[in-house]
Amino acid sequence: MRHLLSTADLDRDSAVALLDTAEEMARTQSREIRKLPTLRGRTVVNLFFEDSTRTRISFEAAAKRLSADVINFAAKGSSVSKGESLKDTAQTLQAMGADAVVIRHSASGAPHRLAHSGWIDVPVVNAGDGTHQHPTQALLDAYTLRRHLSAPGGDSRGRDLEGLSVVVVGDVLHSRVARSNVDLLTTLGARVTLVAPPTLVPVGVHTWPAQVRYDLDAAIAEGPDAVMMLRVQRERMSSAGGGYFPSPLEYHRQYGLTGTRLAALPDHAIVMHPGPMNRGLEISAEAADSPRSTVVEQVANGVSVRMAVLYHLLAGAPAPTPTTQGTP
Ligand code: CP
Repeated sequence: MRHLLSTADLDRDSAVALLDTAEEMARTQSREIRKLPTLRGRTVVNLFFEDSTRTRISFEAAAKRLSADVINFAAKGSSVSKGESLKDTAQTLQAMGADAVVIRHSASGAPHRLAHSGWIDVPVVNAGDGTHQHPTQALLDAYTLRRHLSAPGGDSRGRDLEGLSVVVVGDVLHSRVARSNVDLLTTLGARVTLVAPPTLVPVGVHTWPAQVRYDLDAAIAEGPDAVMMLRVQRERMSSAGGGYFPSPLEYHRQYGLTGTRLAALPDHAIVMHPGPMNRGLEISAEAADSPRSTVVEQVANGVSVRMAVLYHLLAGAPAPTPTTQGTP
């Protein structure tokens, strides 16, 4: 694996291998000394053109726990505001010694451009691009699902998600999390059902390997193993609801995970959300804070999964050859 740009690029074996490595990484994190020497001397650049809490901080934690140096770049306050291009920004960071670039960008395809343009020559990890893909989010979701499939204290290494039923609910139109999860979870053998108002279903969704429904209560009545609530992305809509739904209250009534719907889920089913949550809109506080909610666990799992991704991309790669360029 040279880059991680999309979960559509992962076959079953490579996805399971990443999840297995994440389990090994998680095991190291319960030790007294959590830091591993694996990436000592390497530099990971976090290049964030869009806001983030979980992804940026967990990539930083993951890189540091592997002993890499980390450069955090946020577009706000940088020369991007003076008009500097993605190409010039990336080349500047590589000149400073980046061995891998983790990029979040509002433009779908920006990580692909960075990886394949020849501008830079290091592994690129997509940390979320526009409405396209968020592969490490899907990996941490698959990891969370896999752990909940295993017996308590059991070992889930080598397992896929064969036969699992996952209902993904809400703003599918704007969701890179939904796209990444549909690709990855189906590759791992799960059945994915998308539930959304017709206005928040993307054109071409019939080509996705997922069933589409409009009635959340009917989908819950079928007894899924997990419901994954999607954030309503108001920043990608022109106004609060952007005309996509009549009102926040109406959206919550039709598509929110209310206490009543929570109670209708099978006892073993888990409640997932990638965060950040709009409490009272796509998810009630009762559901978000319930014992079956994995929201906080998903964040913790994100560190192990991102350690695994950096390990797969960098640990086997040769250290870059020192050049005289840029030396004093
Ligand atoms: N789930 C997720 O990507 O969260 P952040 O936007 O906080 O990184």
